[in-house]
Amino acid sequence: ISDIITVIAPVNIAVIKYWGKRDEDLILPLNDSVSATLDTNVMCAKTSVCARQDLIEDEIWLNKEKVPFSNRLQNCLKEIKARAASENSVDPIFLHLKIRACSENNFPTAAGLASSAAGYACFVFALAKLYKVKSDISSIARLGSGSACRSVYGGFVRWHAGSKPDGSDSVATQIADASHWPEMRALILVVGDKKKETSSTGGMAVSVKTSELMRHRVEYCVPQRTELIVDAIKNKDFPKFAEITMKDSNQFHAICLDSYPPFVYMNDISHSIVGLIHKYNEISGKVKVAYTFDAGSNACLYLLEEDVSEVISLIKHVYPPSNSKGFVTGLSYVEDVNSKILKMFQPKDKDLIKYVIYTKVGDGPSEVTDG
Ligand code: DP6
Repeated sequence: ISDIITVIAPVNIAVIKYWGKRDEDLILPLNDSVSATLDTNVMCAKTSVCARQDLIEDEIWLNKEKVPFSNRLQNCLKEIKARAASENSVDPIFLHLKIRACSENNFPTAAGLASSAAGYACFVFALAKLYKVKSDISSIARLGSGSACRSVYGGFVRWHAGSKPDGSDSVATQIADASHWPEMRALILVVGDKKKETSSTGGMAVSVKTSELMRHRVEYCVPQRTELIVDAIKNKDFPKFAEITMKDSNQFHAICLDSYPPFVYMNDISHSIVGLIHKYNEISGKVKVAYTFDAGSNACLYLLEEDVSEVISLIKHVYPPSNSKGFVTGLSYVEDVNSKILKMFQPKDKDLIKYVIYTKVGDGPSEVTDG
């Protein structure tokens, strides 16, 4: 009856973190957040959807396994159908059919690699295509996972917390598209791909209830930082962008420790990466690299293209891989070892960093035709 729609959607990594909800059902955040959307050529979620007369219930398959069609998925589907009905975009009969969705990621799930953001953005974008919804879908992606609303757009994106109880003003908007700052790069240092212990949803609920530092961040720090980082992005001011990014990541992880009972996402290797980046920036005489950590131990480094080869050399020197071939996936790069700098850093044990993903800022979701 219907055609199959296949779309891909990007991962996004926040530089001003979303942490804490004012409404857990509608997934409304306490604070604005800002992120960069990463290139779908390197990391993406891919989802196919169709509506079928012969289906007795809505189905979702994740990495080739049938999984329960959760409340969050139901909420997204319900909202897309309501939007399609109000836009009169498809024959009402079509809205009564059950759907099948098949989704996969080309990167590890639940390792703090923002897989849920790409996954829900992909699911909702695919449904919007299926039901021919034309209006902004970021508030629908938000119902799947808060951070997913930012993966609906490419480039640099701001999720406005909004203030309305129904969440209608809690939407993502683009600050600048992917071509605005073409030199911006990201290196994801995969420290471990074990499933994380405290989910973001669970962790932020504990923080909202117990952390005083969180209140200070939401009321005082985030509003200032958000304005400053939006300006830094618009003016392509890397040192300012980097400083705010690092401070906000550190404060988010401080909130995790300030929560009661406390929980941690960063491990010893994560902390050693923080130390390394500060030392490197210091001896470089300028801030060349920013780190940020989500709800996991992996580091995401933001840096400019001109510094990539030096930083990759540094990482390989300090965290030597036993298999150097294949250590860095993503786009190609030239290695340029600055031996004076390398001499200042002591190598650590082998394989503390499992692999590195090299990527850049990219576009939002798109339909693919190859299925
Ligand atoms: C640390 O979007 O995964 O990555 O809305 O409960 O699904 P839910 O949480 P989720 O939280 C992401 C938290 C973060 C910071 C961020 O991406 O802004």
